[in-house]
Formats: sequence, structure tokens, C-alpha cells
Amino acid sequence: MIPNRFNTITSKLGNWLIKQPASAVGIDIGSSCVKAAEVSFGNRQKVLRAVGVLDLPKNVMEDGFITNAKALTEVIRQLLTNSGIVSREVVVAVSGRLVFVREVMLPVMNQAEIKEAIKWDMEKYVPYEPGSYYYDFAVVGPGNNELEIKVLLVAAPHELVNTLVNVIKQADCMPIAIDIEPLAIYRPLRDADNAMIIDIGSHVSQLMMFQGASPAVSRFIPIGGLSFTEVIMRTLGLDYAEAERLKQRQTGENSDFEGEQLLIYQQIDLLVDELAREVRRTVEYYQVQNREAVFDKLYLTGGGAKLTNLPQHIAAKLGGVAVLLHNPLTAVTLSPGIDTHYLQDMALQFALSIGLAMRGGKP
Ligand SMILES: Nc1ncnc2c1ncn2[C@@H]1O[C@H](COP(=O)(O)OP(=O)(O)OP(=O)(O)O)[C@@H](O)[C@H]1O
Ligand SMILES: [Mg+2]
Repeated sequence: MIPNRFNTITSKLGNWLIKQPASAVGIDIGSSCVKAAEVSFGNRQKVLRAVGVLDLPKNVMEDGFITNAKALTEVIRQLLTNSGIVSREVVVAVSGRLVFVREVMLPVMNQAEIKEAIKWDMEKYVPYEPGSYYYDFAVVGPGNNELEIKVLLVAAPHELVNTLVNVIKQADCMPIAIDIEPLAIYRPLRDADNAMIIDIGSHVSQLMMFQGASPAVSRFIPIGGLSFTEVIMRTLGLDYAEAERLKQRQTGENSDFEGEQLLIYQQIDLLVDELAREVRRTVEYYQVQNREAVFDKLYLTGGGAKLTNLPQHIAAKLGGVAVLLHNPLTAVTLSPGIDTHYLQDMALQFALSIGLAMRGGKP
């Protein structure tokens, strides 16, 4: 079974998951901006109706935590209105370092027995005070032998989830599901068994590895789009806005970097090296305990992945792994009114919000 749901987290928060709405909004709260995507369901089609993005003021999100709930609420409210998003039934993800996702091996047993076993064992796995977190599980496959099953555990502190839910409600929306990023970002992919996804955000990158379609590992790497901008700021002595503009204008052959180009590329190469090294290290570490595990595809997503030629650049360092861009638009039909040019350009940044919306009210 693919762990497409983590009911306990949601049901504990009020049993919202009753019906599949006609359309749902996925809201991705990043560190630099909030993105929203509305998907409607009908005729067995998922139609992308509208999308939008709005920058976050400073100090609203810090290190994955909501530090100014009021300002975030206002941004969400404005974003939905400005983007012409009609639905107020919202799917969000709990994210950040405090979200615990881990595979454990248990003796073969049925769902009720697993539930009971996990209830008692959870403290062994989860690094939080007893009673201070929501948790859930899903059986994701056989274990290392016929006596075992592989179970995915997910846990998140009460405070993290409750703050998020309150913000959504304060923005006059109805939270219909709480997801985790690896599941949501994976949802729009096709034929992606045993893949890795790296979401290059503005401050950090999140590496997620899948066995079959189930998330096996998730880890953060302290390199993001901002790291690339800072290289340009340092080398050319530019301020943030100028460096950011220059970075986004790069088209490889038509570079504006001129004389300093080589220096910039050398430093960007060091950052890409570091990303590739973390990918290799994480794969090797996983393979020590799971010898048969293979990861042969790496999907890049997030705004940082828009850097010119990044897939080729990483592929050259990873030898043997196909490196591709994660295009969430292949998983949806585009509504006739939608700006396709804008969408193509922003597709990488909408992967998570589209993946969240695609879940809809499904348990
Ligand atoms: N055309 C482009 N070329 C290179 N980088 C780009 C381009 N467009 C956007 N970016 C970078 O993408 C980053 C923002 O990406 P994204 O929207 O995925 O971040 P976020 O979701 O807010 O961050 P996080 O996921 O870390 O919380 C910024 O660092 C920005 O510089
Ligand atoms: Mg992001």
C-alpha cells in the first residue's frame, strides 16, 4: 500500500476528512514566499484552475517555524484573492526539521496489531516528549525477510501542527488535510519508483528518497537559491536585488557575468559539488542497511533548480543517475483561462502546492 494518507494527524484535529470537495487548494508555505494552486476534480480529471505566489515579509517564517502567524494569515488571504482561487478547502504540509519520518521493521502483523505495537513503541523512535506530538503510520512493503514488514512512521509536534491549522482557519479557510512534503511533492510524478527528489528552496534544500513510491529518507542540506545569489553578490560586489536579477537572467551561453564569469562558475561549482556529495553520502548510508536499494533518478524541484543547466551540472557529478526537472504540469489538465507561459516558467516552484491540491479531501 502506498502511504498516501496520515489520517491520525488529521482526524485528531477534528475529522475534517469526510468528503472529496469539488476543488481544493494546496498551500505551500516556503521561507521566502507562499504558493497556492487550485485543482478541481471531475470526470476523473484533475484540472489546474489557478495558481499564485506572494512574497513573505521578513521574519514570518524562520527555520521552518511560523514566527508571525498574523502576517502569514494576511499573506494567505491576499494570495487567494489575488490569484482568483475560489475554493477555500485547503491542504497544507507540515514541514521542517521537526517532522519525523522514518521506516521501521516490525514482525508481520495486522493493522490493529501494528497500531497497538506502535502506540507503545513510539517513544522509542520519536525524539519528543510523550503526549506532545501527533503520529501516524502506514505499511509500505515487506521487510528484509518474510517475517518482517516495513512500516513508515510520521510524527509532528502538536504545536507545529496546531499553529499551522490555526493560521489556515484564521485566513477563512477550511483545512481538509494535513500532508507531509515528501508525499505531496511525489504525487505529481509519473513512473518515479526508487527516485530521489531534491527541493532547492531559497534557504535550504530538502533531499527526499523513495523506495517504490514510499518516502524512505528525508534530509536537509543548508544550500539553497540564496547561496547562489550570495556568490554573485560577493564576487561582483552587488546588492541582493541586483545579484538576484542577474542570476535569474542567466541563460548559459548568453551570460551577463563576463569577466568575473569564471570566478562565479567556480564558486557555484563548489556548491553543486556539496549538493552532489550529500546525495551520494545519503544513498550510501541508506544502502548500508538496505543493500538491495537502488536510486537511479534524481528529480530537481524548487526555485533554486531553475539555475541554468543545473540538471546537467549535477548529473556530471553523480555519474549513472538520471537527473531530471520535476514538472508537475504533466499530472494535471490546464484550465483554458490559465496563463501557460507563466506556469511553464514557474512549474518547478508549484510542484509542492499542486501535489498538495491533488490530494484533495482524500483520506
Ligand atoms: N530563474 C531562476 N534562476 C535561478 N534561481 C531562481 C530563479 N527563479 C527563482 N530562483 C530562486 O528560487 C528560490 C526560491 O525558490 P522557492 O520558491 O522554491 O523557495 P521557498 O519555497 O520559499 O523556500 P524553502 O522551500 O526553502 O522554504 C530563490 O532563491 C530564487 O532566487
Ligand atoms: Mg519551498
